[in-house]
Amino acid sequence: RRLAPAGDIAGLGWDDLEARIRECDACALCKRRKQAVPGVGDRQADWLFVGEGPGAEEDERGEPFVGQAGRLLDNMLASIGLARGNDVYIGNAVKCRPPNNRTPETDELAACFPYLERQIALIKPRLIVALGRPAAQALLNQEVRIAAARGKLFEFGGIPVVVTYHPAYLLRNLADKAKAWEDLCFARATMKRLKAD
Ligand code: URA
Repeated sequence: RRLAPAGDIAGLGWDDLEARIRECDACALCKRRKQAVPGVGDRQADWLFVGEGPGAEEDERGEPFVGQAGRLLDNMLASIGLARGNDVYIGNAVKCRPPNNRTPETDELAACFPYLERQIALIKPRLIVALGRPAAQALLNQEVRIAAARGKLFEFGGIPVVVTYHPAYLLRNLADKAKAWEDLCFARATMKRLKAD
C-alpha cells in the first residue's frame, strides 16, 4: 500500500536521507514547494512529535512548526518540561507543503511515509506523539478519529504512539486545549513508565 520513493532509502544515514527528501519528486507536492522540510531536533531524542506537513512559513524557512501553530507546539512542549531540540525531534507526515495548507491526500502520505519510517529507525525514539489525524493515520495505517483515539496507547514498529490534537486545530478550537493538556500528561506519564522499565 505504501509507495516507496525513488531509490532504496532503508540504509541511508541522516545526510543522505535529508538530501533525498530535498530532491524528492515522489508525489505532486514537489511541484509547488519552495523547499522540502525534513525535520528538526535531537537526532537521538526520546520524544518524536509528528505533525501534518509544512505550512507557508515552514516552506519559506525549511523548518517545521515555525509559524503560529509552532508557537503553540513550543508551549505544549514546555507544559510537560520539554523544549525543541532538547531530547525532542519534530517532523511531519509529509515533507512538502500542500497547496493552501490543505490536508495531505492519502497517496501523498503514503509516498512520503518511507522518509518518516527511516527517520524513526535512525532516531529510535522511546515515544511518538502524533499531532492530528493525518500524522496518526500515516503512523497507525488505519482510519483514526482523534477524539476516539486519544488516551490510548498505539504502536509503530514496537514504539509506543499516542495521539492528540494538532496545534493548528487547537488554535481554532480553544475548548479542546484542556484535552490536549490531558493527552500531554498521558504522554509524559507513559514516558516516565518507559524509562522506569
Ligand atoms: N503544521 C504542521 O503540521 N507542521 C508544520 O511543520 C507546521 C504546521
